[in-house]
Amino acid sequence: MSGNHYGDDDESIIDVDFVEQDQSHEPTGRERTSNADPLHLPRGKPNDPSHARIVTITNQKGGVGKTTSVINIAAQLGLRGHRVLVIDADAQGNCATGLGVDKRLAKATTRDLILEPERAVEARHQTAVQGVHLIVGDKSLVSLDQELLRQLGRERRLVEAINPLLPHYDIVLIDTPPSLGIVTINALVASNGLIVPVQTEYFALEGLAMLVGTIREVRNLFSPDLGVDGILLTMHNNRTHLNVQVANELREAYGNLIVNPPIRRNVRLAEAPAHGVPIHLHDPESHGGRDYLSITLELEKRWGLAPK
Ligand SMILES: Nc1ncnc2c1ncn2[C@@H]1O[C@H](COP(=O)(O)OP(=O)(O)O)[C@@H](O)[C@H]1O
Ligand SMILES: [Mg+2]
Repeated sequence: MSGNHYGDDDESIIDVDFVEQDQSHEPTGRERTSNADPLHLPRGKPNDPSHARIVTITNQKGGVGKTTSVINIAAQLGLRGHRVLVIDADAQGNCATGLGVDKRLAKATTRDLILEPERAVEARHQTAVQGVHLIVGDKSLVSLDQELLRQLGRERRLVEAINPLLPHYDIVLIDTPPSLGIVTINALVASNGLIVPVQTEYFALEGLAMLVGTIREVRNLFSPDLGVDGILLTMHNNRTHLNVQVANELREAYGNLIVNPPIRRNVRLAEAPAHGVPIHLHDPESHGGRDYLSITLELEKRWGLAPK
């Protein structure tokens, strides 16, 4: 392994385990769904308009719709004429399937980008949507956390690697794994804003609680302006009492941080990746297609992306 070593007592470095929560705490009663004591989430601030905004889609819970949101928001932005770069920082690499990229043909991956920033240009791949490029994630990201552990400036590698690409895009979307390793920290440190998909189910707040601690650490150590651009309500069914109740409570707590409308549970969204296309090329009139279109129009405004 190359690079300098940090002293073990260097407190300026984020420890990978720093937000590990006490998993033994079982929420009870109202705590499960209630936001009676809302967790404070800072809002994102505008970035330098000459550069693409970098937005990470994050939630330390798995299966909440992060990857589905990255794929379909990126695709819809691309169809609307924006130049989009998607960076898949998850070892599962599902963005490739959903955007119609054959991972096996990738010349370089997100891992290569982080370790060898000079490969940034060749790491970009054209997707099924014109104007949307992807840097693919793959299994090799698993060992990267360990490899970066002892390297100097390990949390800033991604931002430095993508910096030269920023003038060529309107927006960069980064998909993250549900874990908080150094690769995820790299994504957060690189970001101007965050999008947080939340399933309108029990324990919706669990992921948010962890996120609050994470954002605080990243703001303190790296990016004082980091904040949330929007919370997406995902896999929603407005005939299910619990979904409606959780959505209402989240609205009460987070007001217009919530991006409307909620994204309905829709099988077309789940099956689109099998066809290697986003929902807007698979079934644009489905509930999923319509909801992601509405969400994208709202985000386009929030991000100051002029309609093309
Ligand atoms: N609105 C939705 N309706 C139905 N299925 C969905 C919806 N959003 C996501 N899914 C499915 O749920 C699973 C988890 O979604 P995914 O986007 O992979 O979550 P994450 O990236 O947070 O782990 C996937 O199989 C996906 O196809
Ligand atoms: Mg995912």
